[in-house]
Amino acid sequence: MSNRRVGQVSRLQGQPKIPGDKSISHRSLIFGALAKGTTEIHHLLESGDVQSTASCLKQMGVEIEKRDQKTFVKGRGISSLKSPTEILDCGNSGTTIRLLMGLLSGIEGMKASLTGDQSLVKRPMKRVAAPLREMGAKIELTNQDYAPFTVTGTKLKGTHYHLKIASAQIKTAVILAALSADGETEITGEIQSRDHTERMLGHFGVKIEATPTAIKLKGGQEFKASVMNVPGDPSTAAFWLAAACMIPGAKIELKNISLNPTRIGFIKVLERMGAKIETHITSVGPEPIGDIRIVYAELRGVDVKAEEIPSLIDELPMLAVLATQAQGMTRVFGAEELRVKETDRIEAVAKNLRAMGAKIETTPDGYIVNGKQALQGAEIESFHDHRIAMAFSIAALVANGESLIKGSECVQISYPEFFDTLTELTS
Ligand code: S3P
Repeated sequence: MSNRRVGQVSRLQGQPKIPGDKSISHRSLIFGALAKGTTEIHHLLESGDVQSTASCLKQMGVEIEKRDQKTFVKGRGISSLKSPTEILDCGNSGTTIRLLMGLLSGIEGMKASLTGDQSLVKRPMKRVAAPLREMGAKIELTNQDYAPFTVTGTKLKGTHYHLKIASAQIKTAVILAALSADGETEITGEIQSRDHTERMLGHFGVKIEATPTAIKLKGGQEFKASVMNVPGDPSTAAFWLAAACMIPGAKIELKNISLNPTRIGFIKVLERMGAKIETHITSVGPEPIGDIRIVYAELRGVDVKAEEIPSLIDELPMLAVLATQAQGMTRVFGAEELRVKETDRIEAVAKNLRAMGAKIETTPDGYIVNGKQALQGAEIESFHDHRIAMAFSIAALVANGESLIKGSECVQISYPEFFDTLTELTS
């Protein structure tokens, strides 16, 4: 385990290059693996989580190689995926394990066991297995809810599933299973989470009907190999956007960031808080992409309501830190999903803010922070959660005295260049 010292700074300026979006990177590799032919991916995120997806696919016979800054995936169709000879290790990646559960369930002859690290084996999996079982899937979970689990691929039948949790991982797992099921699948309910799967399937030649109230698709469709440009990750960009609102005189410009409407909740909240932020869309299909400029401005607290949560779920640890530097009250509601992320992010944020001398009230589904509050340098426990480590490294930039970020190497899960970029922008 490595630790990192981060101290107070008086400057934040630059044009950091933001690595590829994590959600789109996972899907680019998986969809490329399902197509017949070679898919070419530009700006794929190279990080621990995406590496987990790549290595699982390779264990099932998919060829993936990097040449001239591009990633090439040679697929041979869904049914050509081979049963792995060893257990598939999904590392820290919830997206890898849950998407693969859906995909592998419908491949006849497939037998695979999947597991992950100490965090992943504590995260709930029944929420994904339940709709898949309604389609006929054979999944054996540890203690009825957890990894390691075994999937025995079988012929599935289309279903009508009413989603109760706004999770893109569950939604995508059902969609992937539906692709090898007999008949049509319809998903209704909480489907307003990130929609990369729906957009990208069209790009890979798969017909899917997605309206605000229902998603419909037919089984037995083929994927077409494609060229995929992965935009910068808005959840990664969020760390610099927040930092720019905390350090007087700061100025940050970001290019080619995903401005997908299902991912820009944090930008909208920043606007409501009074941030000086501009976005400019530069291209639209299949993902809206654009540039962001932000300069320092004093912020005020806001309420964040349940319906907005899916569009900024991964940015909520950063928002808690930012709220200590905004005038007045920030209240987050309807974010109970934070409790089942890489760690319980509500408790992790509260513990670390308190270590820095700040007050925060936690609730079952969110938190309340009353600003402005001075932060003191402290020992920060990352809980091996990349977003906690990064959010509190940003907190350390405005704290009096030095902070020690424990287990800081976990940033490699989504943003291996994080500390290099932090040094670059602040020196
Ligand atoms: C993701 C969906 C979200 C998000 C995660 C990535 C995805 O999780 O928190 O980082 O790529 O589908 P849920 O589906 O659990 O909400």
